[in-house]
Amino acid sequence: MPETPAKETRASEVTRLTNAVTSDVSTGDLRGSTQPAGQVPLIFETGETGRANRYFPNGRSLEEFLPAHVLRGALPLPDNSELEVVRHFTKLSQRTFSIDTGFYPLGSCTMKYNPKVNDAMANLPGFRDLHPFAPDELAQGALAVMYDLQSYLAELFGMAQFSLNPAAGAHAELAALLIAKAHFAKRGTSKERTTVIVPDTAHGTNPASAAMVGYKVVSLKSDARGRVGVEDLRAVLGPDTAVCMMTNPNTLGLFEDRIHEIAAAVHEAGGLMYYDGANANALMGNARPGDMGFDLMHLNLHKTFSIPHGGGGAGHGPVGVAEHLVEFLPTPVVTRRTGGEQPAYALDFERPASIGPMRSFWSNFAHAVRALTYILANGGEGLGEISRLAVLNANYLRVKLRDVLEIPYDEVCRHEFVASAQPLKRATGVRALDIAKALLDRGFHAPTIYFPLLVPECLMIEPTETESKETLDAFAATLRAIVEAARTDPESVTEAPVRTLVGRLDETRAARQPNLRWS
Ligand SMILES: Cc1ncc(COP(=O)(O)O)c(C=O)c1O
Repeated sequence: MPETPAKETRASEVTRLTNAVTSDVSTGDLRGSTQPAGQVPLIFETGETGRANRYFPNGRSLEEFLPAHVLRGALPLPDNSELEVVRHFTKLSQRTFSIDTGFYPLGSCTMKYNPKVNDAMANLPGFRDLHPFAPDELAQGALAVMYDLQSYLAELFGMAQFSLNPAAGAHAELAALLIAKAHFAKRGTSKERTTVIVPDTAHGTNPASAAMVGYKVVSLKSDARGRVGVEDLRAVLGPDTAVCMMTNPNTLGLFEDRIHEIAAAVHEAGGLMYYDGANANALMGNARPGDMGFDLMHLNLHKTFSIPHGGGGAGHGPVGVAEHLVEFLPTPVVTRRTGGEQPAYALDFERPASIGPMRSFWSNFAHAVRALTYILANGGEGLGEISRLAVLNANYLRVKLRDVLEIPYDEVCRHEFVASAQPLKRATGVRALDIAKALLDRGFHAPTIYFPLLVPECLMIEPTETESKETLDAFAATLRAIVEAARTDPESVTEAPVRTLVGRLDETRAARQPNLRWS
């Protein structure tokens, strides 16, 4: 009989095995690859020819299941076992900062917790497996989801109708400006209505979208209160004004409290008011752009309605309009015919004045399911409470950070606020960028930095409603510690990050000359 190992021996064996596994995981090396420590090899670099065949029973191969004429010979697909695939993607997921792993106060991006029930609903086989070309009569449930979502959004934001067609925020801005163009074309004034007014607090996508549609962009400087001054606006309004694009609260987190006067002035000049609804987390269920005088708007469902996003991936940007612009909405719009035995839902493409579809199929349908789940789970009252908590959390942090960083517009904000490292930079040389990097070392995602452009060395902080007081306190304490370190040992901040997988990257070069190619 072999001897039973002593308790210590078993414990040390467990430690040895654990260390071996951990070192595999941390080097990303399953086969003694030559990758430098810390890098995960590409999935194309792992595996062996024929390994994927193990997915088929009894050593049979793909060739036995598919006719020869559909098999592609020259497609260099990775050939990995299931275990290799699982490890590969699990490792990658562990190397990415996510809302599920840490606080993510990225201003203007609304990185809030996305309830898992949303994904469970989107994964129901009836939704997940439905073919996009299924005829309307076989897709009544899916069409009901789209119809209900369109209707709830119209009610919540005071618009006559929404189209779910555009794929994300900037895409929906483009749709809205095409709608504006169609509106002026119908009135015979599109040649005169050539300018779009964009306040300097707007998101960069606003002027970009206007330029893409061929409009001339007129930038409007904010007043001393960080808002649009009605008199400044009047000075640029004229017979050439097509649209005034605004977000409210603006990207300083400040509510445009003269919005009714602004809307009246734009309408008087014959222009349209466009609402960039990407900041709707600040007011959903409490105030409606339609009631403020906006004629058209978009929403970032992926932000306000709790859908995983980031890294440029999979958004959903419905566009909504007031009654006088309904005919121009992008197709399809889902309609409901009442009467008969059951309400019948249909994709309506027969809209002669429509600007047409903005993308293929029915947008990101799974996101529509997630957003509707979120709306139904919270109800009207719950959605209002969400925004109120988002506002409370932002104000709590703003006040807590008052003596840490300069707060240029130190008044009650909405869902986010802007701090500035300008005085700190003057005193110590430590910039907003350095603070952002030092936060990464301490386990927090950085706030948005250097946006909006009108505040130098700014950090734009959006805590969202889903964070606890403990998390907000820990973040404030960490920022305080970083600012103290900047005063006593600035290099410890300017050299950050030292604990992340990569140090400082050449961000300008990465943005201008991205090298995303596998070679
Ligand atoms: C205020 C504002 N407008 C527009 C957009 C553009 O949205 P998207 O990134 O979905 O295109 C964003 C992005 O976060 C935003 O914050």
